[in-house]
Amino acid sequence: MDSLGSILLDWFRLNKRELPWRETRDPYQIWVSEIILQQTRVAQGYDYFLRFIGRFPDVDALAAADEDEVLKYWQGLGYYSRARNLHEAARQIVAQGGFPRTYEGVRSLKGVGDYTAAAICSIAFGLPHAVVDGNVYRVLSRLMGVDTPIDSTAGKREFAAMADALMVRTRPGEYNQAIMDFGAMQCTPLHPDCPTCPLADRCVAYAEGWVGQLPVKKHKTKVSDRYFNYIYVRAGAYTFIRKRQADDIWRNLYELPLVETKEEVAEADFYRLPQLQNLIAEGESPLFRLLHRGVKHVLSHRVIWANFYEVVLPEDTRSFSSFLRVRQDELDSYPVSRLVSLFLEKMH
Ligand code: ADE
Repeated sequence: MDSLGSILLDWFRLNKRELPWRETRDPYQIWVSEIILQQTRVAQGYDYFLRFIGRFPDVDALAAADEDEVLKYWQGLGYYSRARNLHEAARQIVAQGGFPRTYEGVRSLKGVGDYTAAAICSIAFGLPHAVVDGNVYRVLSRLMGVDTPIDSTAGKREFAAMADALMVRTRPGEYNQAIMDFGAMQCTPLHPDCPTCPLADRCVAYAEGWVGQLPVKKHKTKVSDRYFNYIYVRAGAYTFIRKRQADDIWRNLYELPLVETKEEVAEADFYRLPQLQNLIAEGESPLFRLLHRGVKHVLSHRVIWANFYEVVLPEDTRSFSSFLRVRQDELDSYPVSRLVSLFLEKMH
């Protein structure tokens, strides 16, 4: 009987996706592709990868860039710590004199965990490290009929051992990509096409009718609501922005002046909030206008409910003095969240 590994490799030869990062063994490009694909689907990551590599073709180019520009190239992809870490790690690599060539060296880079280190080392260097990502959890839990929660310590250990045992040690890079593509295309989360699956005759979940119940996850992701009130200032040709500093969503991205509240605030109450009044200079009494209310923006762990206000002020206003004063027609050069960029697109 063929081994599971050789069936996956045969399936991959027939079904593999043609992707730009599969045309290279350059560890830098493979690293960038794996960071993009951590929380992003291949279809969305594709164009971002090409643009990113077009602008930052090697690790020196990335290390030499400003963080603002790196974030600009990441704008819209989400999970911006990936871009900040990538940039920091590029500087780490240049300082070390080149891309690390060992698993430990790669694993020590900022933002590189077990999954990414195994992916880079197997694909770029042919080292025998098995990847375990969401696809692998799904394929292995179903194939072997394992219901240990994948977000438990025991589960992580059990699945890592299974992945390692199944890996085709002579072709680790190809094998890892085969099982991930297999999970993404054949053994899909919902409605997998089991009757056509080349592993159906040895799949425990298929035989037992457990396909819809596996893999098992112990904790559901908690989602919390937040209430953002953004203010688009029209001070002649200028407006005001600031870089988000706190250890929070969207760190180091720019945004319009923001008043965050504990709950939804009605328009009339908003104008009386001390946090808003504190932004306005003595003697100025600007006219506010509500432009959009209740804009829902869904992130992985939060739902943001956003209101957008506009305020007209003289070009030499003393209000919003703690913010960065920029020309409205130059806003486009600053990295911003998708929520803010969608708003600005509507305004310009
Ligand atoms: N998901 C993340 N990296 C991948 C890769 N190299 N091949 C297939 N799917 C992936």
